[in-house]
Amino acid sequence: MGGPEKSHYSELKQITRENVGELERAWVYNSGDSGVWQCNPVIIGGVLYGLTAASEAFALDAATGKEKWRFAPSEKKNYLKNRGVAYWEENGDRRILFSYDEWLYALNADTGQPLPGFGSEGRVSLRSGLGEGARGKYLMSRTPGTIFEDLILMPTVMMEDPGAAPGFIQAFSVRTGELAWIFHTIPREGEFGADTWPEDVHTRGIVGAANNWTGMTVDHKRGIVYAPTGSAAPDFFGGSRKGRNLFANTLLALDARTGKRIWHYQIVRHDIWDMDLPAPPNLMTIRKDGKKIDVVVQQTKKGYIFVFDRDTGEPVFPVEEMKVPASPIPDESAWPTQPIPKLPLPISRQEISEADLNIHSPDYDSLKRMYHTYRKGVYMPVGEIPTMVVPGLMGGAEWGGAAVDPDGMLYVNSNEVPWILSLKPTSEGESRFTGGEKIYRTFCGSCHGLDRLGNPASGFPSLVSVKEKLTRDELMDLVPRGRGMMPGFPQISPADRKALVGFLLGEKEVPEEKKQVEEKKQAADGSSSPKESWAFKGYTKFLDSEGRPGIMPPWGRLTAIDMNTGQHKWQVPLGEIAQYKERGIPNSGTENYGGPILTATGVLFIAATEDARFRAFDKDNGALLWETGLPFSAFSTPSTYEVNGEQYVVVACGGSTLGTPKGDALVAFKLGRR
Ligand code: HEC
Repeated sequence: MGGPEKSHYSELKQITRENVGELERAWVYNSGDSGVWQCNPVIIGGVLYGLTAASEAFALDAATGKEKWRFAPSEKKNYLKNRGVAYWEENGDRRILFSYDEWLYALNADTGQPLPGFGSEGRVSLRSGLGEGARGKYLMSRTPGTIFEDLILMPTVMMEDPGAAPGFIQAFSVRTGELAWIFHTIPREGEFGADTWPEDVHTRGIVGAANNWTGMTVDHKRGIVYAPTGSAAPDFFGGSRKGRNLFANTLLALDARTGKRIWHYQIVRHDIWDMDLPAPPNLMTIRKDGKKIDVVVQQTKKGYIFVFDRDTGEPVFPVEEMKVPASPIPDESAWPTQPIPKLPLPISRQEISEADLNIHSPDYDSLKRMYHTYRKGVYMPVGEIPTMVVPGLMGGAEWGGAAVDPDGMLYVNSNEVPWILSLKPTSEGESRFTGGEKIYRTFCGSCHGLDRLGNPASGFPSLVSVKEKLTRDELMDLVPRGRGMMPGFPQISPADRKALVGFLLGEKEVPEEKKQVEEKKQAADGSSSPKESWAFKGYTKFLDSEGRPGIMPPWGRLTAIDMNTGQHKWQVPLGEIAQYKERGIPNSGTENYGGPILTATGVLFIAATEDARFRAFDKDNGALLWETGLPFSAFSTPSTYEVNGEQYVVVACGGSTLGTPKGDALVAFKLGRR
């Protein structure tokens, strides 16, 4: 996507800031497969190659949209959200490579037929190098591989729950499909970084992923591939993966010919928020302190932008190692610090105050009430009490990636919707609570909080330092009788009451019971089907009853950053919710998926928004130059190309996300006749 350097930049000059308003629809290709369509088409020699929403490969005449061939790997329609194809050629041997389920296919670009000399009957399994740890486990790829010489470097997607396959990076021969190299993103015994995981990480069958799912960027001159990775699975509870967890959430610089590590930078230590690095990085050359530096730029879901020297991996701007809170979950060990770049400035809000709550929402009062019950803060570990994560699990930045300009500008779209996450103990986890703590969780946690912090604003006092206020006898008396708005609990037996009060006073648990639990736990660890003690309770956005975010707009933005200084040049809302516009609140921005592209004439094209519009912005000031309606929302990155002396812009409109109607239209635009 966006070329080998993922720059999303085109040298084409026919469409300009002055004439972009004259763009008209040139053709529409209806693929027949309606659904989430994230494909970014590739155009070579007047032919447009892509995948339908059901991952069927196709080739079109790029001037007319007429289908030349189509290839369906299966008779059954599988809507796999695949983002497109890769292209390779040598001496007239022209190949289209794409993935479908666990398979990497190689097709003849002229005929759309699988190439028999590639793997078996034109396909090879993406499990080839993963070994036992991936047997029988869900695995596929949704992003085009990255071509380097005669290799294709493959991203993978697996589950994010306990029992995920490992997300090793594999390179295959474009000619034969043979596995050329593999990089263990979860190091094997003896490999660098193995000591950042428990010893049994590869044998217990719980931990996996740490995969590159979003694709990679190659520096062809240096022969280096830059591969960003996602979190290790299970995503939100890391009790089975204590440690810093290299190379999860890491920007890896690997020798593209051999897969050997050159440098790495871990952007989230021991991730327990699903803060995958969401997009392939951008290669740029910036000027800093009078020097030119070749850099690699990684955007993040948190809205931070990290900038590294391409050769050494040294951050080019200062990065602070910030102390972050500990986890309230007994079996979790959150990493005590996280790196926060001081520059460039983040592209999204990092914290939400009461003043940020959505005053335009009909549910403002209840949003405010809910807001005060959440745990919050930068890198606040998720607990049983719902935790607000800002920006949410869908960014900040997302998979669409950024566009860059040779003069040192980065253009990136982002989301701003907080998410509310919580964990719950499994039956395995529940058994670890014993004695007074168990009784507390059963009878008292609902009002005073499982963490005993209460909710003083709503009249439920904190019990954390109750021993400074009340004596043992007073507590023994209060529990069965209650007080004021607190009911009594006569049903708690005197022995249990004693244990409960002991717990409130911070006394150690009864040793005998604790021992039994430890024994049970050890027995469980040795058994063949290991269980996790904490489970993720589900994905929730902080939304009101209208389905709009509980925070003030804008909820989607486009930001231009001068990478020479790290300062924002401009930032504009991206997209518009009609309902808000009618209420007199224009420019609300919308959640957006799919990246921008930039042309040499300074026109930046982006769709991505919920409102089914396609827009062109002036790269210098963010002014809207042109917009048009699309048949369906386009959650995809556009492409631009020239054929027969005319420049086209094309975008795949599949809707289906964010409650929008499903579609199947690939729409191409060119300048109207003047
Ligand atoms: C239905 C909600 C509710 C439940 C359940 C509940 N409490 Fe309370 N508790 C309160 C309220 C409200 C107060 C403040 C009472 C007042 O008005 O003084 C309170 C006060 C207290 C206090 C006095 C705190 C202080 O700072 O003076 C203690 C101690 C206490 N609760 C312990 C418990 C224990 C132990 C349990 C479980 C057996 C429990 N509570 C269950 C609502 C609850």
